Amino acid sequence: MFPKETYVRRRQQLAERVSRGGLILLPANGEAPANYPNNAYHFRQDSTFLYFFGLQQPGYVGLIDADTGETTLYGDDVTMDDIIWMGPQPTVREQAAQVGVARTAPLADLQETLTLAVRRGRPVHFLPPYRAERTLGISRWLGLRPEAVADHISIELAMAVVSLREAKDPDEIAELERAAAIGYEMHTTAMRMCRPGIVEREIAGAIEGVALARGAGVSFASIVSQHGETLHNHNHDGVLEAGRLLLVDAGAETTMHYCSDYTRTMPVSGRFTERQKDVYNIVLAANDRAFELSRPDAFYKDIHLEAARVLTRGLKDLGLMQGDVDDAVAAGAYALFMPHGIGHSMGLDVHDMEDIGERYVGYDLETQRSTELGLSSLRIGRRLRPGFVMTVEPGLYFIPAYMAKWKREGLGTPFINFAKAEEYLDFGGIRIEDNILITPVGNRMLGERRAPATVAGIEEWMARDR
Ligand code: GLY
Ligand code: MN
Ligand code: MN
Repeated sequence: MFPKETYVRRRQQLAERVSRGGLILLPANGEAPANYPNNAYHFRQDSTFLYFFGLQQPGYVGLIDADTGETTLYGDDVTMDDIIWMGPQPTVREQAAQVGVARTAPLADLQETLTLAVRRGRPVHFLPPYRAERTLGISRWLGLRPEAVADHISIELAMAVVSLREAKDPDEIAELERAAAIGYEMHTTAMRMCRPGIVEREIAGAIEGVALARGAGVSFASIVSQHGETLHNHNHDGVLEAGRLLLVDAGAETTMHYCSDYTRTMPVSGRFTERQKDVYNIVLAANDRAFELSRPDAFYKDIHLEAARVLTRGLKDLGLMQGDVDDAVAAGAYALFMPHGIGHSMGLDVHDMEDIGERYVGYDLETQRSTELGLSSLRIGRRLRPGFVMTVEPGLYFIPAYMAKWKREGLGTPFINFAKAEEYLDFGGIRIEDNILITPVGNRMLGERRAPATVAGIEEWMARDR
């Protein structure tokens, strides 16, 4: 937990930024049953609740009066039964004091407060719910039909929260550095283990063990697959085969839930083939170009497009694309090989604040989300600012069904040489992902050490203990 002054300051700033006044409703997450009520998924606190209240407890509700700045934490002290099963717990009042909240109240009182506010016509601000239980809670508290809850989210609150959470302060950056260090260990562990005959899940289990041993666990379900062309492939059944590539996309959360998110792609045999090297080096060049360009005031959309140019140029050199590079990028033809964006912001969520809505996080009045091929999957297109933490994750993928569709429908014409591209249908996919902090003058990578990312660096690492 950060010093309590941090949370007091954040809540004050939030109240000031919601200038329409009213009540700001910030519920914690509840436990979520996996297969029966007493067997819950690993508890994950709501990130916005963590940001303003810092507490890991499920079920609490924070309420900030935007007119007076007064904050109340609603929650119930544990019962004797809870103590028997879970051990002694601090009281709500004690926990509230740790984060500078002086007023607490039982959960049962929340309904009356909110009913009164609604009756008096006071705005009650809440963020888009992403769990059904939250939707039902808001429905009940505010007297809205569950289907109508989404129509009443507060854009003002969404924008105020984003404006605070988007730029990370030094304490948060220190946490993100910790998450990066765990990510380094996860990926170098994977490189050490990667060899023919091992099953993907052995590597997935080992690196998720690193994340759990060093922090709160993984920041998202790990991708450890020889089918790197499937972007979010969570199957770990494959037995590693010499000659193929293994893609590992995995990251950690610290105990305070700050995230990392790295991807490395490595040859199962320990040595890249010439064909793999060619494609790998194109992706690496796109990565390098994005690092060169990421600085305050640069539009992330422009960095995406410049990376796309590097990919297109490289694919043209290999004969898979053809024609004018700028025209091909403008037509979105590269999206056949990279159907995702160059990166996203990261913080307390691996895709930071995606629950609040990418239109507020990644876009603004100046930068609207595009529906065009190649840009429609870009999560953030707006200008970067100091304190932003971003992933840079170009990739090249050969997705058989997608290639067949493009060919059938004439997409990407005349920029794709399908005859040549089809020679790569058994290739798989390559992604290289790093995490950067935007500084006042440019950017720097998070983490003291960068997991090997060049062909030589990966081969050298993999040659150890063999
Ligand atoms: N691991 C998900 C992503 O890279 O966005
Ligand atoms: Mn990733
Ligand atoms: Mn990512």
